Amino acid sequence: MLTEIEDLKAEALAALDAAATREEVESLRVRFLGRQGVITEQLRGLGSLPAAERPAAGQALNQVKNALAEAARARRETLSRAAVDAELGGERIDVTLPGRGQRAGGLHPVTRTLERIETFFRHLGFDIVEGPEIEDDFHNFEALNIPAHHPARAMHDTFYFDDGLLLRTHTSNMQIRVMAVQPPPLRVIAIGRVYRCDSDLTHTPMFQQIEGLVVDERANFANLKGILAAFCRHIFEADLELRFRPSYFPFTEPSAEVDIQCVICRGAGCRVCGHTGWLEILGSGMVHPNVLENVGIDSERYTGFAFGMGAERITMLRYGVDDLRLFMENDLRFLRQFAGGG
Ligand code: PHE
Repeated sequence: MLTEIEDLKAEALAALDAAATREEVESLRVRFLGRQGVITEQLRGLGSLPAAERPAAGQALNQVKNALAEAARARRETLSRAAVDAELGGERIDVTLPGRGQRAGGLHPVTRTLERIETFFRHLGFDIVEGPEIEDDFHNFEALNIPAHHPARAMHDTFYFDDGLLLRTHTSNMQIRVMAVQPPPLRVIAIGRVYRCDSDLTHTPMFQQIEGLVVDERANFANLKGILAAFCRHIFEADLELRFRPSYFPFTEPSAEVDIQCVICRGAGCRVCGHTGWLEILGSGMVHPNVLENVGIDSERYTGFAFGMGAERITMLRYGVDDLRLFMENDLRFLRQFAGGG
């Protein structure tokens, strides 16, 4: 019996010594010491031995059990340490290698333009406001002197929701939202996304607008012209000529569309300006008295002017980009060109 136990011990120790992985060690431990392990079975069988042999056999088995448990623990530890060493060895860093370099990100060209516009108007004392993109009929149309069935609604290609709400088609809704809560005098710029059910080479269903509104006791058309002239000089960094062309918006009277001299050909005529020498950049006008009255502002005492423009269009002209879709495609080769400088 005792030699049998010694043989078992030698066999187990040799197997543990040869185990190459921690999983192998564990399965050996189970095989010898587990609940149905060889040693465990033997311990359980002690009762059937003659009484005289029992103490010696019991003692020997217990010693083997402890020796094996210790050997398994030691082998496991050796293997763990070897595994860590191997991992660390494989990860050695060669500090003499040249660095990989990290490209700094950059702002999207439309964001750059918006920031430049925002800063310009802040310096003139304008507040910057934001408002909802999901709007109601009142703020987007009705209060802006565009009642239901007004033909101007057809120009807006509106996305409607089932419950009478809509995606705002312009930032002019902010004229109403601001005037409704803030008494004049006021000077605000609203910047944000607008939506129109329209998509082709020069139109995307979503684009961004910049809206300006001034209401004061003596706000007049000359102020509007002065501000817009300074704005264009600042944004296009050139002394471009401006042209105010009579136009129509239900919420301004008189209304004007503003053209700048073509930034590409400087007025000589080219493909970009359709050989006219001019580029249309914004809509503007004196706030219609009906609009002031709709928000409870006395149109006898106060006058106002407003203007609105598309951020993508200004950006295209500013950087000489000729395809609107480039702004939406997130092509890094395009975007990286704007990552540095102003
Ligand atoms: N909301 C007009 C548009 O989207 C632009 C505009 C704004 C015109 C303010 C006049 C005054 O076309």
